[in-house]
Amino acid sequence: MDIFRTKSVEQSIRDTEAPEHQLRKRLTAVDLTVFGIGVIVGTGIFVLTGQVAKETAGPAVALSFVVAAVVCGLAALCYAEFASTIPVAGSAYTFSFATLGEFPAWVIGWDLFLELALAAAVVAVGWSGYFASLLASVGLALPASIAGENPVVNVPAVLIVVILTAVLVAGIKLSSRVNLILVITKVAVVLLVIVAGLFFVKAANYSPFIPEAVTTERVEGLKAPLIQVLFGVTPVAFGVLGIFSAAAIVFFAFIGFDIVATAAEETINPQRDVPRGIIGSLIICTILYVAVSLVVVGMQRYSDLSTSAPLSDAFISVGHAWLATIISVGAIAGLTTVVLVLLLGQTRVLFAMSRDGLLPRSLAKVDPHFGTPARLTVLIGLVTMALAGFVSFAELAELVNIGTLFAFVVVSLGVIVLRRTRPDLPRAFRVPLVPVLPVLAVLACVYLMLNLPVETWLRFVIWMIIGLVVYFGYGYWHSRQAFSWQKARR
Ligand code: ALA
Repeated sequence: MDIFRTKSVEQSIRDTEAPEHQLRKRLTAVDLTVFGIGVIVGTGIFVLTGQVAKETAGPAVALSFVVAAVVCGLAALCYAEFASTIPVAGSAYTFSFATLGEFPAWVIGWDLFLELALAAAVVAVGWSGYFASLLASVGLALPASIAGENPVVNVPAVLIVVILTAVLVAGIKLSSRVNLILVITKVAVVLLVIVAGLFFVKAANYSPFIPEAVTTERVEGLKAPLIQVLFGVTPVAFGVLGIFSAAAIVFFAFIGFDIVATAAEETINPQRDVPRGIIGSLIICTILYVAVSLVVVGMQRYSDLSTSAPLSDAFISVGHAWLATIISVGAIAGLTTVVLVLLLGQTRVLFAMSRDGLLPRSLAKVDPHFGTPARLTVLIGLVTMALAGFVSFAELAELVNIGTLFAFVVVSLGVIVLRRTRPDLPRAFRVPLVPVLPVLAVLACVYLMLNLPVETWLRFVIWMIIGLVVYFGYGYWHSRQAFSWQKARR
């Protein structure tokens, strides 16, 4: 079987050069950094900080952010090399098709669903938390059954996905100016939390900085991190191990830098600027995250933090509801763009997969009226809505993380493979110390994956098995690459 047939780098680049598919090259390193921060800063910092400090790491959550940032930094170097070698939209899916072959590319494409559509659902749930908190602050509290920490159906989350799906179908021309305004608002709110919050920090809230390890309901049975089960350690929350389990969760906050790589095709000098954009946005976000988490756990005892809107609720707890309102408004604006870009990214990846014939090609049909892949967008919207409405927030976030970490592993391996198979390609950005750094990236990602709960692993494995069935039942037989291979052989 030719399941490792590859699509050459040259072919991938040629596909983008057809006049009808050509994207305008306008973006610079600064634009990419702004785009990166726009996609990256979201639910991770606005919501997960509270949940993770409260349940897994305590005030040491700031250290968890540092651990997650180091892992992402290693993977970011690998994404940067790929994006500077194959400046084509489609990210990890395209990279794998060029290096490892069709089947691994399918696996990644299928896996990216966990990163993109699922993350869109998670961020929609985070959006809903802040929306409900905002309404409550003006005296319009929503019933607990439709919003808040454990609703029956999360209505605001479903509504935001409906609205954004409609926007995407109608043809989004998210001009960089609108994006810039939203990013400025979001970063301003984050800075406001840091600066205003400093006035309410109480030293007592930092002690103990690393709370003593405990066995809680949250880490028993299937909810225990795989690594602790594998090594027969009694699963615990908090303590030093807790910092690492928490890192595996707050990793979510960094997701999105890899999406910057998808803008390579639209960048004036992708070889130089994509690596700068990816690494620049990662550094800025790390600094913001560490500062915000330190301030928030200093404002309120970690065990009292809110899990649906911790940043604004921390200000309510110190008696400044008006600041909480400003923060909620900023968070809502900021999270909206994150959901939008994630949905857009998901559409692009599935579009590429359908165009390659791995999914029905009719899905890749562009609607003549709107000029967008409307059918695919609506389909993704429906799935995301169902997820956002009914599945628990924490479980979704953990599944997103395992999916993304897996993509990072494959991309890091891909860098080593492409250096061997195509040493001739021009690489404007090269990961230093290959293969040492990519191997470290792989190990670091696997380590974080092992820190995720057993049940997340089970869900991940089941999802991937379904993917295998779809590939061997459909994709393998309909792949366009298969046809070109057969032609080439005759
Ligand atoms: N990094 C993005 C967020 O935290 C996905 O919302």
